[in-house]
Order: sequence, then structure tokens, then C-alpha cells
Amino acid sequence: MSPPRGSDAPPGRPRARRSSRRIDLSTLSSENAERLLSSVVVPRPIAWISTISRSGCTNLAPHSYFSPVSSDPPTVMFVSTGMKDTLRNVLESGEFVVNSVEDSQLEMMLITSAELPGDEDEFAWAEVERTPSWYVRPPGVADSAVSLECRLLRTLRVGEATLVVGLVICAHVASEAIQASERIDLRELPVVGRVGPGAFTVVKQVIDRRRPRPGDLAALRYESDGPT
Ligand SMILES: Cc1cc2nc3c(=O)[nH]c(=O)nc-3n(C[C@H](O)[C@H](O)[C@H](O)COP(=O)(O)O)c2cc1C
Repeated sequence: MSPPRGSDAPPGRPRARRSSRRIDLSTLSSENAERLLSSVVVPRPIAWISTISRSGCTNLAPHSYFSPVSSDPPTVMFVSTGMKDTLRNVLESGEFVVNSVEDSQLEMMLITSAELPGDEDEFAWAEVERTPSWYVRPPGVADSAVSLECRLLRTLRVGEATLVVGLVICAHVASEAIQASERIDLRELPVVGRVGPGAFTVVKQVIDRRRPRPGDLAALRYESDGPT
């Protein structure tokens, strides 16, 4: 018999199939398509991106369409919807810094998402302390537990969106958040994720489970089918 739906279903086990509604995306406006997709891919980490304009003005703005891309070479990507100061600065200077956002930085991060003129220094506007970078001109956010110094590798236009891939030159990681194996310990770093417009979450629970190895498979099959 299928396990009951809801909280008493054993964790990690398939639940009974849900009833569902089919949504054909060609029938949706672009606003509704964005609403749907951005509420499906959640929570999204927030890249708080610092850049510098041709005239030397520093800019800071959150981008939650953000992900690692490859490890060799080490790259990350973010997406700009339309032409914004961040994208313009990256295209002109070829450089950006991705800073992490913790719960204590949420309000400042939101202030930097305001649409400001390109010549407004958003570090100053949001009273965010900056720290010089090692290899690139844009500064990092002094308080952020992680800052990734990046050089523009390539861009890809998809409709109104521009996907930006950056080569990660250097990472600055707060000592208390880094483990011996170069992993970030999220228990020490309450990072903010976006779950929708005006809605955020903080990683509070970490579940430690390793991936099955080939030798584990027989035991796993036995557990899910029961003894025969
Ligand atoms: C949490 C959060 C995440 C956001 N993610 C994105 C994103 O992924 N791409 C984007 O184009 N705009 C995103 N925005 C909106 C930009 O931050 C906003 O348009 C900002 O004004 C851009 O600043 P800029 O013109 O200085 O680059 C996000 C806003 C918030 C609050």
C-alpha cells in the first residue's frame, strides 16, 4: 500500500502521486511564465553582485538567477533580465564580484535592489562596507562570508535575458565557515535564499546523507521493496 500523504510519510520515500494541473507555457504571458518558473526553482541562492562602471562608480545588486556552472574551469553564472547597470558594467569592464547574503544582510541587500541611476554608488546608498578585491577592480562586501572574484568568460542572450558566465579567479571565505575539505559549513553561515517575490528563507536545517555507492544498491533495493 502507498504510504499516506503528508507528514507521516517516511522521509525520503515516494508519496502517493498527486493530482496535477497541466500548464502549457505558450498560453502564459511572460510575467506569468516568470512567476511560475521562479516559484518552481526554490530556494534560490542570492548573488550580491558588485561591479564598477566605466566612470569608476561602484554598483551592487542582488541576482537570484545564479548557479555554479563548471569546476574545470571554475565558473559561476547569473542572469540579468534586460539591460541593467550590473550587466552593463560587466560587459564594459569584464569583471564582477559575487558576495553571499546572510540573514543579517537582508535589509541592505534589498536596498541595493532599488532601481537607481547608474552613477549612484550603491555601496554608499545602502551603507554597505566595501573591501578591496585582490585581482579585480570591483570591491567586495566586507561583511559577506563569501566573495568570489570573477572575470567575464562569455554571455548568452536568451530572449530578454542575458546569461553571464564568469571565471572564478579567487574566493574569500570567512574562516569560521570553511571546513578542511574546502566545503562551506552552512551551520556557520545562515545564507538567505529567495523563494518568491518579497519572500526569503534562511537555511536552518542541514540533512547529512551521502549518495549511495555501488555496494549500497542491493541493500537499498531490499529496504524499499521489503524482504521477499
Ligand atoms: C532577491 C532579489 C533577487 C533578484 N534577482 C535578479 C536576477 O536574478 N536577475 C535580474 O535581472 N534582476 C534580479 N533582481 C532585481 C535587481 O536586483 C534589480 O533590478 C536591481 O535594481 C538591478 O540593479 P542594477 O541596475 O544596479 O544592476 C533581484 C532582486 C532581488 C531583491
